[in-house]
Amino acid sequence: MPSKKLSLSFPANLEAWKSLNKHYRSELKDSTLTELFKKDPKRAQKFSLESGDLFLDYSKNHINSRTFKILSQLIKQTNVPDAIESMFSGEDINITEKRPALHVGLRSKISDQVALEKEGVKDIWPTLEKMEKFVSELHEGSIRGVTNKRIKNIVNIGIGGSELGSTMAVNALRGFWQCDYSYFSVSSGDCLEIIDLLDEIDIEETIFIVCSKSFSTIETKHNADIAKKAIEDKFGIRAIKKHFAGVSSDHELMTDFGIQKDFQFFISDWVGGRFSITSAVGLPLACMIGMHNFYKFLEGARIMDLHFRQKKFEKNMPMILAALSILYSNFFDSQSQAIINYHSRLKYFSDYARQLHMESLGKSHRSDDAASKIKTGGAIWGGAGSDGQHSYFQFLHQGKYCIPIDFLLPVEMLDNEFNAYNAANCLAQSESLMDGRASEDNHRSFKGNNPSNTILIKNLTPQSLGQLVALYEHKVFAQSIILGINAFDQFGVELGKANAKLLTNTLLMSSNSSSKNRSTKNLLSEIKKINKEK
Ligand code: F6P
Repeated sequence: MPSKKLSLSFPANLEAWKSLNKHYRSELKDSTLTELFKKDPKRAQKFSLESGDLFLDYSKNHINSRTFKILSQLIKQTNVPDAIESMFSGEDINITEKRPALHVGLRSKISDQVALEKEGVKDIWPTLEKMEKFVSELHEGSIRGVTNKRIKNIVNIGIGGSELGSTMAVNALRGFWQCDYSYFSVSSGDCLEIIDLLDEIDIEETIFIVCSKSFSTIETKHNADIAKKAIEDKFGIRAIKKHFAGVSSDHELMTDFGIQKDFQFFISDWVGGRFSITSAVGLPLACMIGMHNFYKFLEGARIMDLHFRQKKFEKNMPMILAALSILYSNFFDSQSQAIINYHSRLKYFSDYARQLHMESLGKSHRSDDAASKIKTGGAIWGGAGSDGQHSYFQFLHQGKYCIPIDFLLPVEMLDNEFNAYNAANCLAQSESLMDGRASEDNHRSFKGNNPSNTILIKNLTPQSLGQLVALYEHKVFAQSIILGINAFDQFGVELGKANAKLLTNTLLMSSNSSSKNRSTKNLLSEIKKINKEK
């Protein structure tokens, strides 16, 4: 990003940050959420907002009108609106890797003119057409296995951003699945998932989609090689082109693997893995829900993109969520945030959001190289609310940490007891976490005062899911800009990978460890000892 677009100061040196600090000490620190509601009976309406199919209630947060005003100044003083424009115009906002982050282009219409002159942007629409052809031929049955059997199994082979988005969205949109396909996903580094899966499914009826931006991620390579061998052993090498498709930014590597040109889907290097579900990485999703629904998913994301780009802070959902996260981590000492859903089909949403947040915001250095002096992104965790209530909610209600929560509640027809019970539980938890309950018996008292957002989703559809995905993508981006860090690189994953390579050789070749780490050396010799005893 050109330096003029970056916030020139450390956030903590900005007037808005200083005001926030003072305001926190004088007004927020010792006041409770219940008091804030007493002081302002209109708070629930004041601090809620609708956009498209989403309704956000953020009234159960430690904020008042003054906080909100200061957060708005913080957004301005950290140049968030300029940064958004830089993203949409295709500037190199991924400053350390010197490239744009143009996931917003993936769901734009040509007429939106999102960075059309940037390399790869004009390939977006032909790639979508190619996906459309593939998906419709698959559904019609003209794409078949080598023995002419109809395809029934879609297996995604990928990891991280090349897996989590697909798995999350395929499960969320189960109500929109076409035909009688089954979706499977394998990512594990020990390859047991693919080995077990190959035992379960009929590979004659299977298409494997190898999804890897780099096409060189070791886990994905190993899993893909095992699937390839299974096909090759049974049907010969010529069957590969019938049973494998690929999504990558590297055509050559896909060709080397044996994937035919018509089954190769390209993503540009400006698509970050964790921001890639609206790219061809969504091919498994498109296979499951059909291309017409995939387009609705893209349209949903576009609706949120326009909202993010056009609305002022006061009406801007991603910006509000971003500012609140920063308030909690830096002033309320929150080290994590939970994303808890009340719809079993959203069960993988927090896994997806975890990578999105933690790979993007788990940084210690600012985009301008200086060490960050404030808290950057914290841990993200969560899952299904009903399961959580019977496991970790104890910790939320009576533990000693401030854990801000996003409750996700797709609103279903209240025409049966189960839906009513489910929605009631979501509301009951956020209410109880806020209000608490005093008791003379300390063990039975509830501290309350725990902040949360509730996001209502009008029906879980491709369009609403697209909005939800883009909401969190933009929340993370806005957060990164306020913090002054680059959301789009992930150098932190490299050291472990490099060491694993060396240690694999040590283990396989029984050679002496090159590791200087005494604990590693000791563990290596224990592993070898156990192995010998077997
Ligand atoms: O190791 C981290 C990572 O690079 C993620 O950022 C990425 O989503 C994942 O690995 C998979 O990468 P690829 O799509 O290149 O296989």
